[in-house]
Amino acid sequence: MSEVAQLQLIALSIVGVGILILLFIKAVFIRVTGFVFIVLGLFSLMSLAVPQLASLPPAEEKIDISSIKTPTDIAAIGQTVFFSKGQCALCHSIGPSESARCPDLKGIGAKLSKDFLYESLTDPQAFVYQDYRHGGVPKEYPATMPAINKDPIGLSKNEILAIIAFLQQMSGEPISVSV
Ligand code: HEC
Repeated sequence: MSEVAQLQLIALSIVGVGILILLFIKAVFIRVTGFVFIVLGLFSLMSLAVPQLASLPPAEEKIDISSIKTPTDIAAIGQTVFFSKGQCALCHSIGPSESARCPDLKGIGAKLSKDFLYESLTDPQAFVYQDYRHGGVPKEYPATMPAINKDPIGLSKNEILAIIAFLQQMSGEPISVSV
């Protein structure tokens, strides 16, 4: 029996006890107690009838190494990580976007070498790219690129390499990464 069903049974028996008291007992104080039982029992039954949904954290995504056969497979995993666990899309767009607070990553895989990309992701402060879209002097972006191999994003080395493969692929470059 599920936990909810057990609780419903308990609430139902409390209502039952209340009804029995009201039917068979004349003493006023006990009758009032019986009435309170019925009200409380019905109240619990009502709240237990509301569907319960446990809120669980999102399922951990595991990279299945055995599914990786070609560089395109690596890039596909990188794409998934880019939009989910990596949280890159929170800040970056691929292609121009009005609301982007951070550099557009379109063509980035052609612009930056694999090693430079790796450094941009794991030691982002080493070379800070500025926003040249302004009139006048280029400014720093309003957000800061997080080191994605550290908490809270904390990607593994393979996940980072997969993202690089994805960035290269969507820039039309040959994928120079192997996991
Ligand atoms: C909190 C916002 C934020 C998140 C999340 C974020 N970035 Fe960045 N990223 C930035 C900012 C701001 C810059 C520009 C400043 C700099 O170079 O450090 C940047 C720079 C970069 C650059 C270098 C761009 C260039 O033209 O040199 C790359 C590549 C990059 N990010 C990729 C990623 C990837 C891949 C992820 C996800 C794993 C990611 N970023 C997550 C804010 C973010």
